[in-house]
Amino acid sequence: MEIDLSPKAVAAHRESLGVPLERIPKSVAIIMDGNGRWATSRGLSRSAGHEAGAKAVSAIVTAGVRMGLECLTLYSFSIENWQRPKEEVQALMAIYAHYLISEKPEFIKKNVRLRHVGRRQELPDSVLDALDDTVKTCDDACSGMTLSLALNYGSRAEMVDAVQKLATDVADGKLSPEQIDEDSISNALTTAGLPDPDLIIRTAGEMRLSNFLLWQSSYAEYFPVAKNWPDFTPDDFDDAIRVFAGRDRRFGALDPQSK
Ligand code: IPE
Ligand code: IPE
Ligand code: MG
Repeated sequence: MEIDLSPKAVAAHRESLGVPLERIPKSVAIIMDGNGRWATSRGLSRSAGHEAGAKAVSAIVTAGVRMGLECLTLYSFSIENWQRPKEEVQALMAIYAHYLISEKPEFIKKNVRLRHVGRRQELPDSVLDALDDTVKTCDDACSGMTLSLALNYGSRAEMVDAVQKLATDVADGKLSPEQIDEDSISNALTTAGLPDPDLIIRTAGEMRLSNFLLWQSSYAEYFPVAKNWPDFTPDDFDDAIRVFAGRDRRFGALDPQSK
């Protein structure tokens, strides 16, 4: 079913959430966990779980656009996930390459811009080519929500890369150590230019960040969901937004929402 994503429909959906509009987050990140458990509980292979997980993404991207998000970041593959069995990693890479190509017309329809966060090296050419092609096409055609795919992403590795970049600039005389501030560090990360997440959702009931957006999430609200990722629906997403809207964020000050 085609979902209306016109500005009027987005405004109507935001109203329908029943929360103050200024409390709807601008930037949401999701740790899509539990594909393996979803599959094994059904007697299916882990790869079948990843297929089901990829299918669930489309409806959540649509839900993000309908919610009027500026940015939706999806943790799709961590640097640590290379430790999994070769067959599982290969199946995942094939899914990403296929997803990035097959969803291209959908991204354009939804006016979604695509962005990769994470290291490029190590990713196979099939994934990099699909990424580059879809990112370019969406950049040319779209101006709406940024969908940021964390693929071969690890926060500590990202920080190591950023420190090396800044240290090189200092060694080359382009930057003095005193000029290094929070903004220059943010801008040296692979997420440069993206808003920090207001809300981080994790499915499959886990209560950890697993090396995801450690710098960027300093004041993110955290929301665990018991369901496995393939079962996570747009209604569950709306519920998370309502809970988020009910939280008081103080950023270390005394007045709620003071930042
Ligand atoms: C998340 O599901 C997908 C990736 C990490 C690539 P998992 O594969 O981690 O699923 P569980 O945690 O084993 O159930
Ligand atoms: C985090 O899930 C990574 C992604 C969802 C892509 P994991 O399943 O890899 O995390 P751990 O190993 O349970 O911490
Ligand atoms: Mg997992």
